[in-house]
Amino acid sequence: MLETIAIRERDYGTPARTSTEVVNLTIDGQPCQVPAGTSVMHAAAQAGINIPKLCATDSLEAFGSCRLCLVQIEGRRGYPASCTTPAEEGMVILTETPKLHDLRRNVMELYISDHPLDCLTCPANGNCELQDMAGVVGLRNVRYGFDGANHLNDALDESNPYFTYDPSKCIVCSRCVRACEDIQGTFALTVDGMGFNSRIAAGQNDSFLGSDCVSCGACVQACPTSSLMEKTVIMMGQAEHAAITTCAYCGVGCAFKAEMKGQEVVRMVPWKDGKANRGHSCVKGRFAWGYATHQDRILKPMIRASITEPWREVSWDEAIDYAASELKRIQAKYGNNSIGGLTSSRCTNEETYLVQKLVRAAFGTNNVDTCARVCHSPTGYGLKTTMGESAGTQTFDSVMFTDVVIMMGANPSAAHPVFASRLKRRLREGAKLIVIDPRSIELVDAPHIKADYHLPVRPGTNTALLTAMAHVIATEGLIDEAFVAERCEKPAFEQWRDFVSLPENSPEATEHITGVSAKDVREASYLFATQGNGSIYYGLGVTEHSQGSTTVMAIANLAMATGNLGREGVGVNPLRGQNNVQGSCDMGSFPHELPGYRHVSNDAVRSQFEQDWGVSIQSEPGLRIPNMFDAAISGTFKGLYCQGEDIMQSDPDTQHVAQALASMECIIVQDMFLNETAKYAHVFLPGTSFLEKDGTFTNAERRVSRVRKVMEPKAGLGDWEATCALSNAMGYPMHYNHPSEIMDEIARLTPTFSGVSFKKIDEMGGGLQWPCNTEAPDGTPTMHVDEFVRGKGRFMITKYVPSDERSTRKFPLLLTTGRILSQYNVGAQTRRTPNVLWHNEDLLEMHPQDAEDRGIKAGDWVGIQSRSGETVLRADITERVQPGVVYTTFHFPESGANVVTTDSSDWATECPEYKVTAVQARLVTQPSEWQGKWSRFSDIQQKLLAEREPERAAAITQG
Ligand code: SF4
Ligand code: SF4
Ligand code: SF4
Ligand code: FES
Repeated sequence: MLETIAIRERDYGTPARTSTEVVNLTIDGQPCQVPAGTSVMHAAAQAGINIPKLCATDSLEAFGSCRLCLVQIEGRRGYPASCTTPAEEGMVILTETPKLHDLRRNVMELYISDHPLDCLTCPANGNCELQDMAGVVGLRNVRYGFDGANHLNDALDESNPYFTYDPSKCIVCSRCVRACEDIQGTFALTVDGMGFNSRIAAGQNDSFLGSDCVSCGACVQACPTSSLMEKTVIMMGQAEHAAITTCAYCGVGCAFKAEMKGQEVVRMVPWKDGKANRGHSCVKGRFAWGYATHQDRILKPMIRASITEPWREVSWDEAIDYAASELKRIQAKYGNNSIGGLTSSRCTNEETYLVQKLVRAAFGTNNVDTCARVCHSPTGYGLKTTMGESAGTQTFDSVMFTDVVIMMGANPSAAHPVFASRLKRRLREGAKLIVIDPRSIELVDAPHIKADYHLPVRPGTNTALLTAMAHVIATEGLIDEAFVAERCEKPAFEQWRDFVSLPENSPEATEHITGVSAKDVREASYLFATQGNGSIYYGLGVTEHSQGSTTVMAIANLAMATGNLGREGVGVNPLRGQNNVQGSCDMGSFPHELPGYRHVSNDAVRSQFEQDWGVSIQSEPGLRIPNMFDAAISGTFKGLYCQGEDIMQSDPDTQHVAQALASMECIIVQDMFLNETAKYAHVFLPGTSFLEKDGTFTNAERRVSRVRKVMEPKAGLGDWEATCALSNAMGYPMHYNHPSEIMDEIARLTPTFSGVSFKKIDEMGGGLQWPCNTEAPDGTPTMHVDEFVRGKGRFMITKYVPSDERSTRKFPLLLTTGRILSQYNVGAQTRRTPNVLWHNEDLLEMHPQDAEDRGIKAGDWVGIQSRSGETVLRADITERVQPGVVYTTFHFPESGANVVTTDSSDWATECPEYKVTAVQARLVTQPSEWQGKWSRFSDIQQKLLAEREPERAAAITQG
């Protein structure tokens, strides 16, 4: 059943204030009490009195340009604008008088005299603030005709694939300009011209697409008319109902209002009350949801005996029976541990929990792993070791209380855009910024933002750099001795202090390793330790290294040494990549841990699950993903159930993965599309999009938020139902009536989740942060407040060990990888949306000096070769990368970035070292041998897919 909410939300006109000082005033005879700093408009709205307004909205600071919100204040001359007038003690205000009515009608008359009177056919009809205000002020005539100068015939800008700018509908309220500046922080819009001639301009009068606009949609949301309007609304009309759900792209976990007509999405609007996003969005969550109904989706289960055969469409029952019989056959022949499963960080907590339960209870093995293996497994290891919990310590709101930020190995403008906007706002308010990244990411020099320090660390040397920063803090008397004495283990601290103080760890001694000037390291360390609240945010540029876990521990050391934990504005904040990376780890997806990060060898924990599930669970950890591949190649691992993950594209050393997949006897892929892994599969189970799911995602703040089904599963079964069916067919009964029952089971068995339920999440509105239990019934926004989860914080020695991936004469460059704003991970979703307009191929970024040495120019084909393989990409010559470093994204399968990445991995968790691969680059004229093979194999697989339907096969033959 759909849980719907009102489409139009209450708008208080100006933002809420939180002062502890209270003022009392009277509005239209009604006594009101509001926090100091609240505007008269907001105070009135709180009392249920809606003062007419146009240029004000509660997501933006008031500007006071439209003059519609005038009020009368006893004892004051004139008619001040209520949006810009702060409420004061004892004020007596009238909002409705004959004089005010006249003034407002005059204002509206002027607006309407330059506005098309096509309300009936306007896409905003019924949801237009100008239309509303004309009604509210009782406008009946417009004395000024349309014969004078006007903007009624100004040309539309339809360049953006998702929204249109119609200048004829613009009332120049500048809400869009302010949204772009204050909320998004891009500064793409200006008011061009003066007075009557003023119009909104993108860039230097560019089209929206040609400007700096990043298509976040904030301006569209802020626009009170249809001047900026989603193309889907123009096409489909206004929505009929709405439900709150959570974005299924990145770990920010933005809450959205899915506005619907029947089972069709009209638009996704960021939810004002969403605690992770506070009403903001990025291009992916806001607009790139069309993949959910893309024609490439496979909606019928399919099976085939071998990957050289065409697929056969079958019923769900037949597919599930076939999959179970194959898995049972394999187990009978090769043993219980010859099969396993992979959970996905794209799926809900409930789905993920069920897959690990399926593997442990129905398959009888601990061979379960997750895509978090290849991104944030070192975060789990490093934070658990030092502080006792495998998660970030703060809320996103916390950044508004920070004074100095270290941003390390993360590019939030591209990968966590809504958080980046928040951070930029804090930086514009004066917080300091230290960027540690081999690349000059956008934050280094963005509009109205300049990093105080950019430490362009050489890939693979993060540990040496952070240890050098710790050296400065320890040797210059910058340690927060009181915090350390009270909160941390003394012997471990002393050992650490002695270690980092060694001369060999000084910035000067490590400069030749890290490539960062010792002076900058000293100054940045001093800034971090002395500026006030210091927070550290980091991403895969920290974890995806041979010393990923060590670097995470070095981050925790730095935070503990400077006393930057346990309150607002500080903390250690891993920026999680995918929407539910945190959740998939929490839910027991790793082979060594049951839900709640409890080791499978712990008899008490295991027996709790054994009793609840009615099975015995192995006490030995199962295989990690790379071990599964090795075992497959050596012939001992033969069957895999892979839900919502594309290991063939996302995991390193593609040719090794291909060999592993080709060695297995039964691969079951559950996905929306025939992804790269599915090309090697024998059973295909159609997966669902987030719009078809009920469940929860857990974001980077540990916030468990509801995902709500707004359309029925297009293939008939939800992902969790398919997992249950497979389990039942394997002989282990699994029955739930609704995903909420799965969460109830998780809560029953996981101490940090014991207070979580769908009902509780709904009551909290906007999700709740685990731990949520009897000690913290409403969740835990900030971790480690009075003591660390493990009791005392534990400093760890972080000795730098060079990666095997070093530049050599044969491979003199270091390849590092990352993301781009418009695409997402393996691109399965975003490549099937108009986002390809911004990025339709992965490029190789190369410094001009390296390019010149090799005779390479922008746009040339470049062969990149490592010890694993070679691929060919087009060159982008840029100083964003330093000499000796090349960079690419990995959103397109044909790019083959992972053909080049190697088996090098984190010593503790086997997280692949994606961020450091020694390569050579050369000018070439054709795709690599691997790309040729990929293309032929893909063509065959597409043909085998098409042959399942005669009509499609015919279309392909003709094509
Ligand atoms: S879509 Fe976002 S970035 Fe583009 S102009 Fe609007 S607010 Fe600015
Ligand atoms: S485009 Fe919309 S938000 Fe921007 S100034 Fe015009 S009416 Fe206001
Ligand atoms: S920031 Fe992340 S969660 Fe938010 S809309 Fe963008 S992709 Fe979705
Ligand atoms: S709403 Fe107050 S001046 Fe426009």
